[in-house]
Amino acid sequence: MTLTKKKIISVVGARPNFMKLAPVERELRKYKSLFIHKIIHTGQHYDYTLSRIFFKDLDLPKPDIYLGAGSASHAEQTAKIMEEFEKVVLKEKPDLVIVFGDVNSTLACSIVCSKIHYKGGTLPVAHVEAGLRSFDMKMPEEINRIITDSLSKYLFVTEKVGVENLKNEGIEKNKIYLVGDTMIDTLVQSKSRISRSKILSKLNLKPNQYILSTIHRPSNVDNRKNLFKIISIFNEISLTVSNYNPNIKIVLPAHPRTLKMLKSFRLSNKINRIKNMLLIEPAGYTDFIKLLGESKLVITDSGGIQEEATFLKIPCLTLRDSFERSETVKLGTNTLCRLDEKLIQMKIKEIFEGKYKKSKVPHLMDGKASQRIVSIVKSNII
Ligand code: UD1
Repeated sequence: MTLTKKKIISVVGARPNFMKLAPVERELRKYKSLFIHKIIHTGQHYDYTLSRIFFKDLDLPKPDIYLGAGSASHAEQTAKIMEEFEKVVLKEKPDLVIVFGDVNSTLACSIVCSKIHYKGGTLPVAHVEAGLRSFDMKMPEEINRIITDSLSKYLFVTEKVGVENLKNEGIEKNKIYLVGDTMIDTLVQSKSRISRSKILSKLNLKPNQYILSTIHRPSNVDNRKNLFKIISIFNEISLTVSNYNPNIKIVLPAHPRTLKMLKSFRLSNKINRIKNMLLIEPAGYTDFIKLLGESKLVITDSGGIQEEATFLKIPCLTLRDSFERSETVKLGTNTLCRLDEKLIQMKIKEIFEGKYKKSKVPHLMDGKASQRIVSIVKSNII
């Protein structure tokens, strides 16, 4: 008897999606006799440094279909992705759609699938990185997560608390799978490539002699008062750390949103005047993880970096009011600092004096999440 292959579509659109897809794609590739796997890129991110470089760094095949959504308001961007994705789905007729993380592309495509009925049911969605909650409805990502999870048939959860969050929202137990974090699979699989990165010598940096930072959340950069405060905090940090080592630099790969807001609030000069501040373009995956792994500490408002820092045992100070990755705080290297300058200074001193909290790598950060995911997909859709 010949088996008809099942068609799976994976949807990605923005920078944090690509490293979550890569190991799943690699794992699905092992079962070419069972699956046809297509990658759809929504075009939410389109700059080379936010998109194409990741396909190169992660050895991802070129997307099969590019929707070209681009930037716009939340409603416009989501609507545009939905319109284009619906056409693709109606033509391709996949058996399963996989969405990743919490960006607008994730939300848009899961809504589309949940209203398409064929082959005797609703087009099933699998959500990779389900269950995370910040309980902060001011974050667009929190809205995206809640809706995507409520519409998905397979919820692939990264950490224990995610399972509790989903159960508390009334999601049936049989949809929930605790599998770990595919982003960490990518890190594990990219180790040798990362070790070959030349980014430190290119930027004239020495291991342990710089602080890495990334800031791009709308709540931090789209509000002048907060962006001004963050720059003042960087200035104070620069003064504090130069007491320990006058050569310490602060390296900030700047997201286009951050650069745009620095300009529009006329704060570019203020940040450029900070001693030892190095503003650089957004880095690709390999260079970024190299920068992270060799840094003294990282200051960020990203979600994924909190996990990567925990895995690499790099102290991480998070400039947000809420967090969704509890294990990084409870077990890992992460401290939620908000924009509390005193707390940040205290943590910096602890780090430089070797008194920062001891951390552990959570057990599901084992590089095997995508194997678990594909094995569940296999036993459910074949
Ligand atoms: C999106 C995600 C966020 C994720 C981040 C990582 C949502 C709601 N947010 O935020 O969760 O942490 O990606 O980067 O999906 N821009 C460019 N070039 C690009 C893309 C964007 O210059 O290739 C600029 C545009 O001015 C755009 C702005 O960045 O308006 C914001 O882009 P957008 O995709 O709306 O959200 P991000 O801030 O990137």
